[in-house]
Amino acid sequence: MAFLGKTVLITGATGNVGSSAVKEFLEQGANVIATSRSKSSLEKLTSKLQEISVPTEKLIPIVVDISNDQELSKIADQIRDKTLPEIDHVISSSGPWWKYDHLYDVTFEQWNEVMSANVNPHFITYRNFIPFLLNKPGSSYTLVTGASGLVDVIGNIPSGITGISQCVLFGISRVARFETKDNAVRFNELLIGFRIEDDATYKKYISEGKFSESSDIVTTSWKFGSIFLSIAKDNNVKGEVIKIMSTTEKDDFEKVHKFK
Ligand SMILES: NC(=O)c1ccc[n+]([C@@H]2O[C@H](COP(=O)([O-])OP(=O)(O)OC[C@H]3O[C@@H](n4cnc5c(N)ncnc54)[C@H](OP(=O)(O)O)[C@@H]3O)[C@@H](O)[C@H]2O)c1
Repeated sequence: MAFLGKTVLITGATGNVGSSAVKEFLEQGANVIATSRSKSSLEKLTSKLQEISVPTEKLIPIVVDISNDQELSKIADQIRDKTLPEIDHVISSSGPWWKYDHLYDVTFEQWNEVMSANVNPHFITYRNFIPFLLNKPGSSYTLVTGASGLVDVIGNIPSGITGISQCVLFGISRVARFETKDNAVRFNELLIGFRIEDDATYKKYISEGKFSESSDIVTTSWKFGSIFLSIAKDNNVKGEVIKIMSTTEKDDFEKVHKFK
């Protein structure tokens, strides 16, 4: 119960990465404020957690569009007026993968759609919630990014506009790490370079022979989230880009940065 009495805000909480963090923090006794635009997705997440015996009494599901500044600022107001618990940690994780073969074929509407899903939520989350943590000892803020921003092609899929959105996030991370360096909060970027799938998809891939269970480059959400505990707990992890390209690298990081 390493996070008993602490509150963690997790955006993109129903996603493959966000849900992995929700599970781990609940298991460690934290209150978890979990955001999604969809009530039914949050209900589905709650059922999936209960199926694997994760306690959900401290889960606080919130229906909000994190790409909408006004909506998210109302959640910040609820923390200020103590309708919601004071937060200690933030995990900013959202944004799907978009596949377009050529950047020159992307329409302006598609461009805006990708930026609205992959970039704006991270800026809006940062501007609304980092003020709660700036001077709070022991607090942390983790921005999740992807390796599509490092390369032009992943496998044989062009990373194109998804990669561009991640490059913008690298910029946000760089500025945020710099401007919080003298504050109490530990701002870190978790840059993920391998696949995390929900349990059902993962099992399907294994049964179809797409990956073997010993594969180092794919894992299930339920096995991934423990890395967030290490980042949130270890006071030495501050201002870092934590680049994790395989399950082995994840395990190695957690061996060095133990959360309990
Ligand atoms: N999963 C991986 O294999 C992987 C690998 C490398 C890096 N990453 C990084 O991890 C982060 C999250 O990935 P993920 O796999 O968890 O994504 P995901 O499963 O596709 O989840 C995306 C989340 O983003 C939210 N979202 C999508 N479109 C949105 C929009 N227009 N406005 C507001 N919210 C929106 C969704 O929230 P709703 O519930 O509201 O729909 C959902 O919770 C991304 O930054 C990605 O680069 C993931």
